[in-house]
Amino acid sequence: TERTLILVKPDGVRRGLVGEVLRRVEAKGYTLLAVELRTADEALLAEHYAEHEGKPFFRPLVDFMASGPVLAVVAEGERVIEGFRVIAGATDPTTAAPGSIRGDLGRDWGLAVTQNLVHGSDSPESAEREIKLWFPGL
Ligand code: GTP
Ligand code: MG
Repeated sequence: TERTLILVKPDGVRRGLVGEVLRRVEAKGYTLLAVELRTADEALLAEHYAEHEGKPFFRPLVDFMASGPVLAVVAEGERVIEGFRVIAGATDPTTAAPGSIRGDLGRDWGLAVTQNLVHGSDSPESAEREIKLWFPGL
């Protein structure tokens, strides 16, 4: 079995969509191992998004992610990494498929950074790395 790190980003928390995201994860049959609301500091976020360092959207992305609390979640299940990426939908919420979190609940707000409600680890390696970063004790 497999674990993934899910974040409900500050836009999702501000819009009151924490319950909706957890509902979809649980309804799909995944198990919640950890759920914690917290405001991430810059160091954690820079580490979390290290692969994007140097890209034009890196700074706005880190600022946005630090702009309010996020819900950090570890979920477990067979192929949950891939499964949650499908539940989340494509990165751009304007074109993300209806039925997905981003497709049903997100859109472009004309802001500098893509506010797309959720994050999900994209590989077993990044999942282990991100879970260690957000939940060192787990
Ligand atoms: P995450 O689950 O958040 O990692 O999203 P993702 O895996 O679908 O996208 P990726 O890891 O490539 O990028 C991380 C985040 O950076 C995205 O979720 C967006 O918020 C933002 N982002 C990615 N690409 C762009 C871009 O081309 N322009 C802007 N403005 N933001 C971007
Ligand atoms: Mg990513």
